[in-house]
Amino acid sequence: MAAVGSAEYALQHLIDPEVCIRCNTCEATCPVHAITHDSRNYVVDFAVCNNCNACVAPCPTGAIDHWHQVVKAMPYTLDEQLSWDNLPAPIELEVGSQAEVPSDVRALTEIATAGQGGPSAPPWSASHPYVNLYSQGRPAVATVTGNYRLTDEGASADIRHIVLDFGTAAFPVLEGQTLGVLPPGMDDSGRPHHVRLYSVASPRDGERPRYNNVALTIKRVNVDHDGKPVLGIGSNYLCDLKIGDKVNVVGPYGASYLMPNHPGSSLMMICTGTGSAPMRAMTERRRRRRALKEGGELLLFFGARVPEELPYFGPLMKLPKDFIDINFAFSRLSDQPKTYVQDRIRDRVDKVFQMLTDDNCYVYLCGLKGMEAGVIEAFRDVCRTNGSDWDALKPQLLAKSRLHIETY
Ligand code: A2P
Repeated sequence: MAAVGSAEYALQHLIDPEVCIRCNTCEATCPVHAITHDSRNYVVDFAVCNNCNACVAPCPTGAIDHWHQVVKAMPYTLDEQLSWDNLPAPIELEVGSQAEVPSDVRALTEIATAGQGGPSAPPWSASHPYVNLYSQGRPAVATVTGNYRLTDEGASADIRHIVLDFGTAAFPVLEGQTLGVLPPGMDDSGRPHHVRLYSVASPRDGERPRYNNVALTIKRVNVDHDGKPVLGIGSNYLCDLKIGDKVNVVGPYGASYLMPNHPGSSLMMICTGTGSAPMRAMTERRRRRRALKEGGELLLFFGARVPEELPYFGPLMKLPKDFIDINFAFSRLSDQPKTYVQDRIRDRVDKVFQMLTDDNCYVYLCGLKGMEAGVIEAFRDVCRTNGSDWDALKPQLLAKSRLHIETY
């Protein structure tokens, strides 16, 4: 772009479409609703953004972490940003015309680029996560070594356990981290498909111990939230993979939704459907190290329509009762009333309150967005029943990095 003449300049907050993994964290975080998206890009409305930076630290990739100097009267429009595949080159400014970078922008930029993003800090004893090792321009190429259906053949949901092997490429992951898959081909506008993000379902030492592989839990999407037929690009690509197929993978991502490692630390895990992936990873990590007798308690609340549609139902049922306390919630059993995880939490009011108030217990939610509000209401009731106040307890959990939520 040519140098611009005498003008007033401003910093415009932009999102790098090349790095963005479309996790929606920024849009969900922005308190003034300046961030929107279309089927492809996330964009920031210059007229609405007040540079409060609430979105910066939670971004797992740092894609959010861009400020371009622009002529104040001519910021990039939303339509321009939606059309980008990459950020434009910075404009050439007149000498001495640079817009002042606010100090809070500078400080938060440092946090975001330090790979310490995420809505909250990780548990104090979490292992150090590696993030952003592979980008869309330079993905890791994994080989499919397994693709197993987890749900009964007769069940309406096709949920699969897919194993990807990285061969000699280093792709270190911790339980709770995510990775991105690049489906091949083009979208309707003739551009490569954007990244699809999935939680890792295997522990850090591999789906098979000491193998350089990871597992994913993928549900084939063939209807949208309203029940209308729709073909999920990422999920159908993954569910149809054959052994030996190659997959382009980016990441890993996530530096806060991690499990504690200190002896005696307990986990309360609450999930629905494929939100079970990080819970499987954490449970398997603890199971493999059981002989070391270092772990505290494991309490799991797991919701599905029916047992036949609950991923990992068989293996979960085989786990010893003194290792993990499992509470299933089935919503569509013909002979029983609809039950959600929040109902089961209320059934276990004493246990849940004891764990919520135990500084060594870390709480994880993963699954349907609607479940989040229901679970928080159940926590409120659990506290009230015990003469306590959730609104007072929640900030303490957050301050101690004991509450981690990933819903979609
Ligand atoms: P439902 O039978 O009402 O759909 P899915 O199979 O769609 O992935 O959902 C997993 C489980 O989560 C199902 O049992 C589903 O029940 C349940 N569920 C749906 N909405 C909520 C909610 N708001 N809170 C808790 N669980 C929910």
